[in-house]
Amino acid sequence: MSVYKRSFGLTAAGESAHIYRLENRNGSYIEVTDLGASLVTVAMPDRDGKLTDVVLGYDQAEGYERGDAYFGAVIGRNCNRIERARIQINGRTYQLTANDGENNLHSGPDGYERRLWGEQEVDQQRNSVTFALSSPDGDQGFPGDLRIMVRYRLSDDDEVSIHYMGSSDADTVVNLTNHSYFNLDGQDQGSICDHWVAINARAFTPVRDSGAIPTGEILSVGDTPMDLVKGRRVGMEIDADYDQLKCMGGYDHNFVCEGYRKGRTRVVARARGPRSGITMEVATDLPGLQFYTGNFLDGQVGKGGHIYHRRDGFCMETQYFPNSVNDEGFETPVLSAGKTYRTMTSYRFGVER
Ligand code: BGC
Repeated sequence: MSVYKRSFGLTAAGESAHIYRLENRNGSYIEVTDLGASLVTVAMPDRDGKLTDVVLGYDQAEGYERGDAYFGAVIGRNCNRIERARIQINGRTYQLTANDGENNLHSGPDGYERRLWGEQEVDQQRNSVTFALSSPDGDQGFPGDLRIMVRYRLSDDDEVSIHYMGSSDADTVVNLTNHSYFNLDGQDQGSICDHWVAINARAFTPVRDSGAIPTGEILSVGDTPMDLVKGRRVGMEIDADYDQLKCMGGYDHNFVCEGYRKGRTRVVARARGPRSGITMEVATDLPGLQFYTGNFLDGQVGKGGHIYHRRDGFCMETQYFPNSVNDEGFETPVLSAGKTYRTMTSYRFGVER
């Protein structure tokens, strides 16, 4: 196991970004950058043993700084949407920036995904890198001085784990996720509609309309195209005449993952690339998973000049439910002052012959 660090170019402000390569015993490796604490590369063997990069992204820091698709980034302080860009904590109202119609998406234009995080620790033994970020009181409109750490680790059995830790001096929202887009056939292999995907969720949180704010219901997936419990080809019903899919242009919904209990990690989803045979298993201790099929990708110029089109990657963003800060029926994403935020999500790769 080993970790190597190199330059990843300069940010617009002239600061140096870095890339860290974590390699395991099998020769599989991942690359992460301090810019947005983003996951840049996940190189795993396909069924012929050929290393295949299964995440979409850019070649240089500049792409991550300018991009609009959140490739591989850590999203914070709150991922997903907040209705009318407004929250209330302890009876006080805080106004965030509306950047998705009247709503707030991924915390607004000044997201953590464009910030240069600090290097907290490189652990050669554990094959991990930890990034740290200070988000002051009032940052993005949120209360509380928040300090966060995100640790990426690659194990010898091809598991990429992401641990999130944080604490604040005032009650605040903390709902971090990773926004990697996966294509298990390879990041430049086009549509993911032939991938097989299973999500262990018997219910999802339907959205009101294309603004994508949940209605508050927990709706059964039974007899709908949202039933991914047993697994199916992503494209099978993605364009079905079904309101929830039509209004988002495909899957872009939060699934209510089975077996949620604070602090307990369980497998919530599985996927397989049809051509590479590469498989992925997602585990988390969080209650929800936004399954997003890259419906809004539209010509981003990525790695090696490859152009990403609609549905060329899918995201599995583990999270507290969208708009949960404003919805009393949902598990709260509010972190109390002095308490520690601690969650983890992992992606374990394998191959099916
Ligand atoms: C959202 C999509 C959004 C995308 C932006 C996802 O988390 O669910 O609606 O377009 O992020 O890349």
